[in-house]
Amino acid sequence: MKHELVEKNLGLLVVLIVIAISFGGLTQIVPLFFQQETTQPIEGLRPYTALELEGRDIYIREGCVGCHSQMVRPFRSETERYGHYSVAGESVWEHPFLWGSKRTGPDLARVGQRYSDDWHRAHLINPRDVVPESKMPAYPWLQRNTLTGDDTADKLRAMQRLGVPYTDEDIAGAEEMVRGVSEMDALIAYLQHLGTVLSDRR
Ligand code: HEC
Repeated sequence: MKHELVEKNLGLLVVLIVIAISFGGLTQIVPLFFQQETTQPIEGLRPYTALELEGRDIYIREGCVGCHSQMVRPFRSETERYGHYSVAGESVWEHPFLWGSKRTGPDLARVGQRYSDDWHRAHLINPRDVVPESKMPAYPWLQRNTLTGDDTADKLRAMQRLGVPYTDEDIAGAEEMVRGVSEMDALIAYLQHLGTVLSDRR
């Protein structure tokens, strides 16, 4: 009888379904807010330098995340290829996360220090020069564009507001660090730092 009431009353059914689902979701999500493992930075983690942060913005602007994930899953096939699986404590200062989900190219979570800066430069100018079968697009303009640094301090300040531990000196020196540097060098600085804090290659 009660069941019939629920089945024939669409509004009530929807409300009850939402309550049922949200309990399932909340039991998975809420504990994560209180687990050190997911909220605390791993040992040795440092915020991106101003230059790396600018490089990261170029990574976002150019849509690299559309073809590259930054998330090594805890499976042998992945750890043998990329290195240590990703842990939450590496990403606590990432705003926004760039974990991605599409892997047209390889995962980049641990690409830092795997290749030389020169390799990256040649690869970004024309991927086919170093990987003949590559279908990655070329990004030659990165070499020509230079950063002004006009809004770099603001970017650090925004991150600071989100909880990234930048110091006032970091912010004061931000513009000077990036002014006149090519977008290519900023992007490479970012790539070279990826995943190096927790790495079994060291
Ligand atoms: C259309 C998809 C696509 C886009 C967009 C793309 N890539 Fe790639 N990328 C690939 C493919 C495919 C490969 C593998 C072949 C190669 O090495 O060129 C690759 C390889 C790489 C590698 C070498 C990884 C390794 O472990 O060997 C790096 C580094 C890289 N890409 C960086 C970038 C960056 C930075 C951007 C944005 C500026 C970008 N990619 C945009 C498809 C893409």
